[in-house]
Amino acid sequence: MQITINNNQYEANQGDRLLEVARLNHEHIGYFCGGNTICQTCYVKVLEGAELLSPLSEEEKAILSENLLKAGARMACQATVEKPGTIRVVSAVEEVRHLLETSPLELGGYAATMGWEALVKVPDTLRLQAGREFDLWQLLTDVIGGIGDAWQLVFSAFCGSCSCKEKSETTVC
Ligand code: FES
Repeated sequence: MQITINNNQYEANQGDRLLEVARLNHEHIGYFCGGNTICQTCYVKVLEGAELLSPLSEEEKAILSENLLKAGARMACQATVEKPGTIRVVSAVEEVRHLLETSPLELGGYAATMGWEALVKVPDTLRLQAGREFDLWQLLTDVIGGIGDAWQLVFSAFCGSCSCKEKSETTVC
C-alpha cells in the first residue's frame, strides 16, 4: 500500500499505525508521548484515502474536536492502515513549517485555532485519561524515546528550511 506523508511516499502494510510508518521513515509527525495517546502532537490531516484507515477510536473521539474531525484530522498513534490504496496525510508539524516559510503572519491564527480546538475537548480528554491504566515503566521509556526522536525531527524539519547548516556547524537555527 502507498502512503504519502508530507509529500513523501512510503510503503505500508495492513495494520501499520500511521505513526510507525512515519517513525520508520524519519518523517516529521510529532509524538512526544511515544504513541501513548497523551501528548496530542501526532495530529495529521488526511487529504486522501480516509476510508482506507481504521475507524475513529474512542480515544480519537474523546480528543479530536468536531471541527478537527470535519477537517480530516486523525491521531497518527491511533489510526492504522486497513485497506489497499493510496493514503495522503500532512502532519501538524509540516503545516507549521509550511506556514513559517510561506505565510508566517498566519502562524498566530493557526496556533490559536489549534489551541481552541484542544480546549473545547479538555473535559472529554480528562475523562479519557482518568480512566486509563498505564505501565509506568513502559510509558517512561516510550516518552523518553518519543521526546528524543520528536525533537530531532522537529529540529530537522525547521532547520531544513534555513541555510544554517551551510553557514556553520555551530550555528543554531
Ligand atoms: S498522542 Fe502522543 S503520539 Fe499520539
